[in-house]
Amino acid sequence: MLAIIGGTGLDQLGNLKITHRQVIRTPYGEPSGALTFGTINQHEVMFLARHGYGHTIPPHEVNYRANLWALYEQGAKRVIAVASVGGIRSDLVPGTLVVPDQVIDYTHGRPFTYFDGRERLVTHVDFTEPYTRELRQQILTAAGLANEKCVDGGVYAATQGPRLETAAEINRLERDGADMVGMTGMPEASLARELSLSYATIAVVVNHAAGRGNSRNRVDLGTISTIAEPAMARVRSILGRVVESDGN
Ligand code: HPA
Repeated sequence: MLAIIGGTGLDQLGNLKITHRQVIRTPYGEPSGALTFGTINQHEVMFLARHGYGHTIPPHEVNYRANLWALYEQGAKRVIAVASVGGIRSDLVPGTLVVPDQVIDYTHGRPFTYFDGRERLVTHVDFTEPYTRELRQQILTAAGLANEKCVDGGVYAATQGPRLETAAEINRLERDGADMVGMTGMPEASLARELSLSYATIAVVVNHAAGRGNSRNRVDLGTISTIAEPAMARVRSILGRVVESDGN
């Protein structure tokens, strides 16, 4: 089944016909909320709001392990994460949708692995390509069918938050090769890999990163929702097509 993790601006899916909600407990604690089960265009999906349904959980306090575990245990095979980001690369202006192909992890202090040696043997996973190639392609194809422009590829820098970055930090991220910056991309992606789930992200650029474009002097948080709302409607339309693609 396809699972969707919604981020800021997407704590529900308008095109989801809800059949039931289920509270899941995991060996890693509680997920961000009950899993929502339903159908989009007659295809079964499950949905989880990463920050909780009332958007109460900040990025560094999200229980990523419980979230991914709950989806895995309920039979998810593919996970599409929706995440809002700040644009660093000059073409990634607010309103742009991107399917990143790489990630750099700057987070710290978050429980980040299932292989902590207690319940499972220490195992190393390959993470050369952090996002599943086939799932990325399915999203890009779906975007084409939905007539929604979606940038193919880019490096996602995952920062700790909850504060935004300084302009100097954004300059450093750019020197490192990052194209966009968000706070939730890791350890979500690597936990999905540890569970052998297909995983890809639709990143929604909701602001210029600090020191860039109209965020030269400050990031205007007030405008983020006016950018995010229409962009999330486009994401929903892409997801409506993804569910029709192969995979379970
Ligand atoms: N920085 C980090 N995370 C973000 C941003 C940003 O500028 N915008 C949305 N999420």
